[in-house]
Amino acid sequence: MDFKIQWFPGHMTKAKRMMEQQLKLVDVVVEMLDARVPRSSTNPMLNQLLGQKPKIIALNKVDMADPAKTEAWKDIFKNNGLPVCVIDCNTGKGVKQLVAAVQKAAQPVIDKWLKRGVKNRSIRVMIVGIPNVGKSTLINRLVGKNKVLAADKPGVTRGQQWVTIAKGLELLDTPGVLWPKFDDLQIGLNLALTGAIKEDVYDREQAAWLLTEKLIASYPQLLKDKYAVDFEAGAPVQDVFEKIAVSRGCLKSGGLLDLDKVVQLVLRDFRSGKTGRVTLDEPDK
Ligand code: G4P
Repeated sequence: MDFKIQWFPGHMTKAKRMMEQQLKLVDVVVEMLDARVPRSSTNPMLNQLLGQKPKIIALNKVDMADPAKTEAWKDIFKNNGLPVCVIDCNTGKGVKQLVAAVQKAAQPVIDKWLKRGVKNRSIRVMIVGIPNVGKSTLINRLVGKNKVLAADKPGVTRGQQWVTIAKGLELLDTPGVLWPKFDDLQIGLNLALTGAIKEDVYDREQAAWLLTEKLIASYPQLLKDKYAVDFEAGAPVQDVFEKIAVSRGCLKSGGLLDLDKVVQLVLRDFRSGKTGRVTLDEPDK
């Protein structure tokens, strides 16, 4: 596969520097991943930057992910010794459990402080993750206000505040923005499809094509139901596009396929979860 994304290394350097600064302030980190792409939405450099700091995985947007695969992913994280919580920030499902998990993960830090005679010090936690994974939505939920707290650009300097979200637990009101990894083309595609990468830096037509290929192979029934079309197992993408175009009226004069419209439809439906519950990263690979 040859799926290209334009990316500027300068952004990464800035984001990394910012993350290093923010990490100095916290005791525990919540790494938020997109449950549809738990492998693609992680940032391998985070662990290196974290050192010994406890980390919790929050698998977000589970409402849009394949439930069976989410269970499998949970097991993978657990088996690797990582506490994991499954959350849906839009409804708040799982958020309480996440707070409890943070408190649990912080216990060794508290014990260490107690040994040194430090009492009544609050644990400080930060939410980190790649763009659009749901960090600000979670922070707003935890803080209990609806104002937008995050400036989601690496390198933006603004006042950072600590907000008490549970007894002895303070949250940094600014998320840590991680840069996505682009070295693997499949990962780049998955991030493009789930909305972590802006549309102007990749080929939308190619992304829609590759997505539909994946859906035909792994989730054919979702496509059939969503667009009221029928096709054979392993049908060519072009055929399925044409069927969707007819079913949805994405046609130019003369009955020709309006490819732009189909591409837009397929991508938008997928990104917003309207296609159905799909996980792009296979747990067994
Ligand atoms: P960020 O700070 O990590 O960049 O992400 P943010 O909270 O801004 O969330 C990005 C989008 O994801 C928002 O949609 C938000 O509503 C949605 N979102 C967050 N958590 C969940 C979840 O658990 N389930 C679902 N289905 N959606 C979630 P948006 O404002 O419509 O933005 P966009 O999708 O149009 O970019």
